[in-house]
Amino acid sequence: MMTKKPNSSFLLLSLLFLLFLVPLFYLTKTSLDNSSSDTNYVVPKQTPFNTTNKNHIFVNNNVDINVTSPFPALDFSSFPRSGVSQIDDLRKKEEGDLLRRCDLYEGKWVKDEDGGNYPIYKPRACPFVDEAFDCQRNGRLDSEYLKWRWMPHGCELPRFSSASFLERLRGKRLMLVGDSMNRNQFESLLCMLWEGLSNKSKMYEIHGYKITKGRGYYVFKFEDYNCSVEFVRSHFLVKEGIRLNAQGKSNPTLSIDIIDKSANRWKQADILVFNTGHWWAHGKTARGKNYYKEGDNIYPSFDAVEAYRRAMKTWAKWIDENISSEKLVIYRGYSSAHFRGGDWDSGGSCNGETEPVLRGDILDSYPLKMKIVGEVIKEMKSPAVLLNVTRLTNFRKDGHPSIYGKALTEGKKVSTRRQDCSHWCLPGVPDAWNELIFTTLVVHQSSTVE
Ligand SMILES: *[C@@H]1O[C@H](CO)[C@@H](O)[C@H](O)[C@H]1NC(C)=O
Ligand SMILES: *[C@@H]1O[C@H](CO)[C@@H](O)[C@H](O)[C@H]1NC(C)=O
Ligand SMILES: *[C@@H]1O[C@H](CO)[C@@H](O)[C@H](O)[C@H]1NC(C)=O
Ligand SMILES: *[C@@H]1O[C@H](CO)[C@@H](O)[C@H](O)[C@H]1NC(C)=O
Ligand SMILES: *[C@@H]1O[C@H](CO)[C@@H](O)[C@H](O)[C@H]1NC(C)=O
Ligand SMILES: *[C@@H]1O[C@H](CO)[C@@H](O)[C@H](O)[C@H]1NC(C)=O
Ligand SMILES: *[C@@H]1O[C@H](CO)[C@@H](O)[C@H](O)[C@H]1NC(C)=O
Repeated sequence: MMTKKPNSSFLLLSLLFLLFLVPLFYLTKTSLDNSSSDTNYVVPKQTPFNTTNKNHIFVNNNVDINVTSPFPALDFSSFPRSGVSQIDDLRKKEEGDLLRRCDLYEGKWVKDEDGGNYPIYKPRACPFVDEAFDCQRNGRLDSEYLKWRWMPHGCELPRFSSASFLERLRGKRLMLVGDSMNRNQFESLLCMLWEGLSNKSKMYEIHGYKITKGRGYYVFKFEDYNCSVEFVRSHFLVKEGIRLNAQGKSNPTLSIDIIDKSANRWKQADILVFNTGHWWAHGKTARGKNYYKEGDNIYPSFDAVEAYRRAMKTWAKWIDENISSEKLVIYRGYSSAHFRGGDWDSGGSCNGETEPVLRGDILDSYPLKMKIVGEVIKEMKSPAVLLNVTRLTNFRKDGHPSIYGKALTEGKKVSTRRQDCSHWCLPGVPDAWNELIFTTLVVHQSSTVE
């Protein structure tokens, strides 16, 4: 699937591209000044143009080889459409083909030292970050962790643009479904979109709800684009229930063969982003005593990994039967935790980490549950897109809230007892996941151009 060598039709396309677009570029130069206005493909500062390096596919064919140019990237959206639509379509298809050939998840984190492009929104400024992820406001002092961006080995990610993202959502509903990791990603996406809006009061939660961990459903409307970005909480994607034990006490159960009751909401979305993972390691789930249920049968004991496999199959079957294959379904892969010296519930810590991991076993760790997700997705009639972010999160031991998941109380010492080394500070790592969703939309929508 990932062809590394450009073939001849690719070279031909590139040639056509150069022939037609170079003159256009100069004709429309002035309108390109607004580089922030749309999907730009940034010429990477870190990777100067290298014609001999055939292993690299440059999304922007480096029409503009001066990397310090005041026109850092071409803004194709501002080309006049009449008369060039064929070229425009060709360009779109080509750009999609290039990204499609590239493995977006193999790469490295690079620091945006001077660009001022990262973080995509300022810490403390975005109103949708809830206390648990608002590390800078809660007293975190180091800020290098805010400057990293994900760079695949084989291509450049299209530069994130709020306007372009929302344009792609026009008339649609995007819904994130999952646990608090997905709420983490949801808040990140809201901030990334909000940052680029010229009139910020045209984005609002339709019921006026403020985001807290207590509530399980939010709908943010973007008035000018007639679209919404929503969150539905579902820890397991399958149905949680309760049973009464012999003493008459109610105990939780998990029906691994029945889809979660929030699935009725899922049907209303046009683009879905799922996740589940961390809850499968919690005590009740992991030990699995009188917890997992199939049909009327509650298993006295059951293996959590096998339960996860069956739950994922239940999910995949439901998607195949109830979600049209024209819709876009994404599954966001497991997000790594970095507890040192214990687990989340036994004093593990990540406090004081200010740099990503650059080497070591953790970089290659790929959980069994992710292999299961890969297998289940492959067998779907209409396979979901796997946002395979596990490895890229392995690096980022510096990105967690640790002790900064709570607002400081004046005069009180910060407690180091309970640390959050699972979720992510915002701005932070989930911003990169959302850049990858943006990339997925670019690829997906370019494939519909014939
Ligand atoms: C850039 O965008 C601003 C605001 O959208 C607009 O006022 C200005 O005319 C644009 N400049 C160019 C050169 O297109
Ligand atoms: C360009 O790429 C080739 C092949 O990968 C490599 O040998 C060479 O060192 C690169 N040149 C520069 C300036 O990066
Ligand atoms: C690149 O563009 C900048 C700004 O126009 C100019 O100052 C610089 O000399 C150019 N560099 C090269 C190598 O052409
Ligand atoms: C807004 O989008 C909905 C689909 O979500 C569509 O039915 C409706 O016609 C759109 N309204 C406008 C004014 O475009
Ligand atoms: C922003 O949007 C609000 C709500 O639609 C509107 O009342 C206000 O006039 C707008 N402000 C500007 C500067 O356009
Ligand atoms: C999903 O589709 C199946 C088969 O078409 C149907 O029986 C089921 O009721 C649907 N589920 C929901 C929640 O609509
Ligand atoms: C996801 O990425 C990992 C390495 O980062 C790789 O081993 C795995 O095969 C990928 N999964 C899929 C389904 O492509």
